Amino acid sequence: MPGRIIAIDGPAASGKSSLGVALARRLGYAYVDSGALYRAVTLLALRRGVDVQDAAALASLAAQTRLVVTRPTVFDGRQYTVLLDGEDVTWDLRSPEVDANVSAVSAHPGVRRAVNEHLRRSIVHEGTVMVGRDIGTVVLPDADLKIYLTAGPEARAERRAAELSARGKAADYDTILRALRRRDAYDGGRATDPMRPAADAMHLATDEMDLEQEVELVLRHLAATERPTGGAGG
Ligand code: CDP
Ligand code: CDP
Repeated sequence: MPGRIIAIDGPAASGKSSLGVALARRLGYAYVDSGALYRAVTLLALRRGVDVQDAAALASLAAQTRLVVTRPTVFDGRQYTVLLDGEDVTWDLRSPEVDANVSAVSAHPGVRRAVNEHLRRSIVHEGTVMVGRDIGTVVLPDADLKIYLTAGPEARAERRAAELSARGKAADYDTILRALRRRDAYDGGRATDPMRPAADAMHLATDEMDLEQEVELVLRHLAATERPTGGAGG
């Protein structure tokens, strides 16, 4: 029996990748981070000096980019490795420059079309957990389970600051909070596929629960809604 498809959406640092990676591990499913693709297109645009408002140039960049996302190739806390034309750019995707420009790049419908095609091709038979902003609403509207994560902006900024410090990077809380609010507004306000919960999403407030509680809750829900196998004696 094929595994299920789980869509997880929510704002920056709401806990999507933590929950997504943990669920994929527990279930033996593939983990797909859609944000990494938008970040890779953004990194490439910045490197090539493409204007983040140039819709046509960005759309062709997104369609032509040779992106490979694999299991981690280095054990340095990463959840996957991203190769851009063979170069390992995994941590470059998390730079403040990419953070500041990714929402503008991802607002272009042509960029979204190219990324969505790539995302739909990454669904595997064993089961897939995909995280992002519009996975339950646009990319995989028929997902078996949709989850929408929330947490206050202050809690999310604190998380990002702690993560950056742990990686030895500069982490000014106020700057991070401002950038995060700006990205929330941009992602939620854009015309094409804005960030919003699907009507049938399960909502989880991650500032009221720890990761293990979230994982257990979702696994219980999945067990309770298990599809019948159809075999005799079931
Ligand atoms: O990890 P974090 O939540 O900070 O961001 P991300 O998931 O890596 O996404 C980076 C940016 O890509 C978001 O702020 C959105 O602008 C865009 N994005 C999107 O538009 N749609 C998605 N499905 C995923 C990301
Ligand atoms: O993927 P997204 O940007 O939505 O968030 P994340 O990278 O999974 O989580 C951001 C930070 O929040 C991580 O450092 C997690 O350890 C932390 N977190 C938390 O404090 N409580 C949770 N329930 C989930 C995540």
